Amino acid sequence: MVASANGVVAWRRRDAKDDPVLAILGGDRRHPARVADKLLMRYLRCFGDVSVGAETVRTQPELVLTPQQPSDEPLPELFAFRERAALPRQPRNIVYSVYGRLPLEHRIFTTPGIHPIVVTTPLGGPEIRRRAGAAIPPALLVDDLLDPAGLRRAHARLFDDFGVRYLDCEGGETVLNALRGAGLLDEVFLTITPFVIDESAHDGVLKIFDFEREGATLIAEGRAEADASWRFRRWRFNDR
Ligand SMILES: NC(=O)c1ccc[n+]([C@@H]2O[C@H](COP(=O)([O-])OP(=O)(O)OC[C@H]3O[C@@H](n4cnc5c(N)ncnc54)[C@H](OP(=O)(O)O)[C@@H]3O)[C@@H](O)[C@H]2O)c1
Repeated sequence: MVASANGVVAWRRRDAKDDPVLAILGGDRRHPARVADKLLMRYLRCFGDVSVGAETVRTQPELVLTPQQPSDEPLPELFAFRERAALPRQPRNIVYSVYGRLPLEHRIFTTPGIHPIVVTTPLGGPEIRRRAGAAIPPALLVDDLLDPAGLRRAHARLFDDFGVRYLDCEGGETVLNALRGAGLLDEVFLTITPFVIDESAHDGVLKIFDFEREGATLIAEGRAEADASWRFRRWRFNDR
């Protein structure tokens, strides 16, 4: 996750141009600390599989959970890492959705070589099949996800039936909160940028966890040489 200096991770977008992630990252795509953040995100996609909430999928059409997205420079060393670890070339792309209102034309569901799995509920499953029409729907894993025990069962089945071991969840905050509530979140890698977001200027502002209050331990902190005002933190929850 990436947060502003005052902890903001998202807000309700007014339109397609109102992009909280871009604002939190400060706009300049070529800033060295921004590049470091992107590379860290790609690196974290290397160790196993990757998951994301449905709202992030709906609001980020460019997203595909791979070590090298289509607009990235070549990153062959990341694929070589997966090959050496006997992992498939691409991580599975796992999407959480309660109601199944997913844009199946999204890259996550259409990119060759990407295997999507939708973790959904008894309500969401039929909606996804309806949206797929005559096409084959993505693999579905169905449970009562609004119950923390159901969310835990779904992850046990990802482990048992799909071979998922390390799962890198890229948010958003709604899904991270649900995972945290179910005791499924072990660690958070958080980039804190120097930019302050005016919370009064947006509706539906979402903020990152208050890690200290939650009893998490800061187990690592790094900085980019080019700009020490960005902080790269790794928090571990201690409840197990
Ligand atoms: N700052 C960052 O690092 C960062 C990272 C990721 C995303 N974002 C931004 O954050 C915003 C989206 O985040 P968000 O928090 O609003 O949404 P989100 O976490 O991406 O997705 C929320 C959706 O997940 C599903 N869901 C909710 N509870 C669930 C549960 N218990 N089990 C399984 N699925 C559940 C629901 O899907 P259905 O509605 O389909 O039922 C819900 O609408 C976007 O603007 C995105 O760009 C920021």
